Order: sequence, then C-alpha cells, then structure tokens
Amino acid sequence: MDNEQIQAEALSFLDTRGILRAADLGCGAGGQTIAPAQNIRGSIVGLDQIPGFIDELNAKALNLGLQGSASGVVGSMENLPFFEKETFGRIWPEGAIDAIGFEKGPAHWSGFLKMNGYAAVACPCRLAGEHPDEVERFWSNADSGLER
Ligand SMILES: C[S@@+](CC[C@H](N)C(=O)[O-])C[C@H]1O[C@@H](n2cnc3c(N)ncnc32)[C@H](O)[C@@H]1O
Repeated sequence: MDNEQIQAEALSFLDTRGILRAADLGCGAGGQTIAPAQNIRGSIVGLDQIPGFIDELNAKALNLGLQGSASGVVGSMENLPFFEKETFGRIWPEGAIDAIGFEKGPAHWSGFLKMNGYAAVACPCRLAGEHPDEVERFWSNADSGLER
C-alpha cells in the first residue's frame, strides 16, 4: 500500500455526515492536515512547535483555497493554549505522540474532545529494551532529521 492508499483508508473511517472540528497535533508541515480538510465538512487545525512548518501549512492551505477549513498554529501539544475545552470531534496526532508518550498524550488531550469525540493515533514506537545497532542508527537519524 502506498501513502495515498493508506491515507484514503484512514479517511474512510471518518464519519463525514456531520460538521467535524479536528486537531492535528504535531502536524509538521501539514502532510496529514490537508487531506482531511479536503474530505470533511468542518475544519482542521494543525499545531506544531516549529514555526516554519506552520508557515508552510498555512501557505499550502491558502494556495489550495482551504484557508477556511485548514489552518496551523504554533504551540506545544503538551499545553494546548489556543483551544477551548470540549471543542474537537477528532484529535489526530499522526507520528507525533512519541514526543510526549502514550500516557501523557491522552491525559493532556482528552479534555479537548467533545462528547463521543476520540483521538486517532498512528505512531511507530520502540519498546523498551535493547535493539540491534541498525535499528538504533535508523531511529537516531530519524530523530535528528526532525530538527533540521
Ligand atoms: C514525525 S513528525 C510528524 C509530522 C506530521 N504529523 C506527519 O505525519 O507528517 C512529528 C512532529 O511533531 C512535532 N512535535 C514534537 N513534539 C512536539 C510538541 N511537544 N508540541 C508540538 N509539536 C511537537 C515536531 O515538530 C514534528 O513536526
């Protein structure tokens, strides 16, 4: 399956009958923010700690005429200062929950979900213990790549 097929399958799980307000936490440059915006009635806000990523997301949304349904804000997913409680139908942290962990993430975010809202999380994770050198090298390169 390529990325587009995976994304289409993930989107097929969204209930698109009502108006949905969603948050993409740790959105990066919005790789996974734009497609939901194009497929839901409602809006999605991306949040990332790196301002350059948010500028890129907002520029993409503007170019695609999606500024009413996709937007980005700079901030920390550990402290969601811009959002009101019980606002979101979906919280969608793709490839980002590892930055704060599976315990802290839901604890910080659950208050921002509306009744019957939920978080959909996808993230490659390393379990505790020893790993082969090749695996350690892969992940340390992947992590340092984020800071560039
Ligand atoms: C692996 S990238 C995933 C980006 C995007 N969700 C995607 O799937 O293409 C993880 C992102 O989480 C962001 N991030 C990490 N810790 C964060 C935090 N505490 N608050 C906000 N963003 C954070 C990083 O800046 C990075 O853009």
